[in-house]
Amino acid sequence: MPRLAHRTHDFLTFQVVELFKQAQALQTAGKDIISLGIGEPDFTAPPQVVEALERAAAAGLSGYSPPAGLTALREAIAAFYHEQFGARIDPARVIVTAGASGALTLACAALVNTGGEVLMPDPSYPANSNFVLAAGGVPRLIPSTAEKRFQLSAHDVAEHWAPATQGVLVASPSNPTGTSIDHGELAELLAQVRAREGFAIVDEIYLGLSYEGQPRSALTLDDDIIVINSFSKYFHMTGWRLGWMIVPEDMIAPVEKIAASLAICAPTLAQHAALACFAPDALRTFEHRREAFKQRRDYLLPEFERLGLRVPVKPDGAFYIYADIGGLGTDSAAFSQRLLLEAGVAAVPGLDFGPAHGRHTMRFSYATGLDRLEEAVARMGRLLQR
Ligand SMILES: Cc1ncc(COP(=O)(O)O)c(C=O)c1O
Repeated sequence: MPRLAHRTHDFLTFQVVELFKQAQALQTAGKDIISLGIGEPDFTAPPQVVEALERAAAAGLSGYSPPAGLTALREAIAAFYHEQFGARIDPARVIVTAGASGALTLACAALVNTGGEVLMPDPSYPANSNFVLAAGGVPRLIPSTAEKRFQLSAHDVAEHWAPATQGVLVASPSNPTGTSIDHGELAELLAQVRAREGFAIVDEIYLGLSYEGQPRSALTLDDDIIVINSFSKYFHMTGWRLGWMIVPEDMIAPVEKIAASLAICAPTLAQHAALACFAPDALRTFEHRREAFKQRRDYLLPEFERLGLRVPVKPDGAFYIYADIGGLGTDSAAFSQRLLLEAGVAAVPGLDFGPAHGRHTMRFSYATGLDRLEEAVARMGRLLQR
């Protein structure tokens, strides 16, 4: 076997991968497993999008697109950002990518130097550390608290910024907590970063799935940041591998240059199909589905409380509940095993999202139908009574 690069060993591996393998094996063996583990909507792309894909394929529109994406799609995304999230942006600043993952890879490739540090909250989406490592940088997880909605604060930036620090990476709403950064606090955080001439990457992949009031993009606060988004969550198109980033004007050409080499372009057929997402009837479908997610959250929160799974901060977006299981007298790794083996419910131990709260927290995803959630709650209830 060839000798692997050092960074290969530095990359984090996730417990969730093992958990899914285990859940799959149980399912194959005939056990009914309810997955509250996966961060993937149970809805799929609506029929308009599937039909648009078929039309594009039949018309042979399957060649490379420009590296930054189809002009019409970049325009549609810019219009969507204005209508939905209040940010007026030039479509030229939209770079279409292979999912938010492609956007985060590009952002880190364009911004992070070898040894450059990137601050992010603990807990965070686990792949974020690996995007930074892939670019040769150093992820620095800053332990957050329920009082800070498990987010990074302006104070954290001031306290933890070191000579090697280059920028911050935050997500609002966040995975695993489903909590957003208060707009005023985000403004203060961005001001601290700007004062240090650093970069701010704001992952808004769950912004469309906000349940308390009209969501606003971080771009309404600061035009000089890098915003990440995707067709995976609000648009229910995970496997289509389509996302985007919105970059400051001066970054367009450098990012296009890197994108042209790393991926040539995002999947072209998926881009043609995604144009259908912005038709009024498709947008209505997405809004109904958002309501369905909200209903599930509103069902689960009191049930969790009743079961003794404490939720330290009410999630206002995404489809996750980050629960504190500290009161159950067990740790998250052991509890997730008991949940899976004894109750047939898969959920992710908090350890995957960072060490600060990992042992006593679990992430539950409600990207599963209400009937299955009710069954999961009943099963957890029986387990916890034992
Ligand atoms: C916060 C966050 N960012 C990015 C991603 C990657 O998403 P995509 O499917 O668009 O690559 C995920 C996926 O779960 C996520 O939770």
